Amino acid sequence: MATLDTVLGPLRLANPLLSASGTFGHEDEMAAWIGLREPGMVVLKTVTLHPRKGNPPPRIVEVPGGILNSIGLPNEGVDHLIAVTLARMRGRCAALMVNVAGERLPEFGVIAGKLARAHRERPDDFQAIELNLSCPNVESGFSFAKSPELARECVRLVREQTDLPLFAKLSPNVADIVEIADACRAGGADGFTLINTALGMALDWKTGRPKLGAGHGGFSGPALKAQAVYLVHAVAKKLALPIIGAGGVETAEDVMEMLAAGAHAVQVGTATFRDPLALRKMAERLPALLDEVGARDPGEQTGRAHRAARRDGGTAQGSAAP
Ligand SMILES: Cc1cc2nc3c(=O)[nH]c(=O)nc-3n(C[C@H](O)[C@H](O)[C@H](O)COP(=O)(O)O)c2cc1C
Repeated sequence: MATLDTVLGPLRLANPLLSASGTFGHEDEMAAWIGLREPGMVVLKTVTLHPRKGNPPPRIVEVPGGILNSIGLPNEGVDHLIAVTLARMRGRCAALMVNVAGERLPEFGVIAGKLARAHRERPDDFQAIELNLSCPNVESGFSFAKSPELARECVRLVREQTDLPLFAKLSPNVADIVEIADACRAGGADGFTLINTALGMALDWKTGRPKLGAGHGGFSGPALKAQAVYLVHAVAKKLALPIIGAGGVETAEDVMEMLAAGAHAVQVGTATFRDPLALRKMAERLPALLDEVGARDPGEQTGRAHRAARRDGGTAQGSAAP
């Protein structure tokens, strides 16, 4: 039977199923439901340099095919993460990735400096950094993922401070995600997380008011998967760095599809809200699906779509016109 051992750039993981930032508690809340060692890597909620309160409620509304959220990155700040959260998580996860965002460009370097110091003191506390360049739910827009120059600079500022594995999490709300990903590569990223939520809005048609307290938010869930698969495929076609696929993954079949598009691992977010055990169920079923296609591990499924397209003479890469 296939193993779930996963190579994700410089990381070796027990399986390719990661929790998605912001959907798996801020600290150890999910331990009430599922073992914290079950995800190949736990990804923490985004932290910023300073504490943030987040957006006014309602922060989540259900829409067909998924949910809209406008949480607004409430968090206690990076000093709290280092002093409290990392201590609480210590030794409890198979691997841990912290997720950070700067509200202003220089903050990326400051946050990374603090994390680098913490990592030097306790190298086992966390194994990687995910840069949230892309949260659509905050007033400033945190729009670093919209400009190649800004995205490259964010990554560079972090890279200057640390050699830790660094994944740039990108937004689908851009004209050309490959250009942004390439800029992150130039800045020193080890890989990408694709994708964060897509911009969305839901209105009460009687009052004309938005259903989310913040007006608009980010769409996630099963209906996001087609866009996520497309963007993972597009980046994998052009760039050789490892990709963590995220967006609408609910089943082991979805995981296989994301890997086929070019991902080396996946994150599971909204599915956890419907079923806190979703990730466990995917891990249980995945080896049989790998066996079905003759893959000995997830890495052998990675990029199947690109190999098939080459065999077929490139037809799967043709025009998007209907
Ligand atoms: C309620 C909620 C909170 C989220 N918070 C964060 C966050 O703090 N940082 C981040 O990088 N992504 C955040 N995300 C985005 C997810 O990590 C993920 O990229 C996205 O939801 C797509 O995956 P999914 O369809 O499996 O949920 C959040 C998503 C949701 C639904």
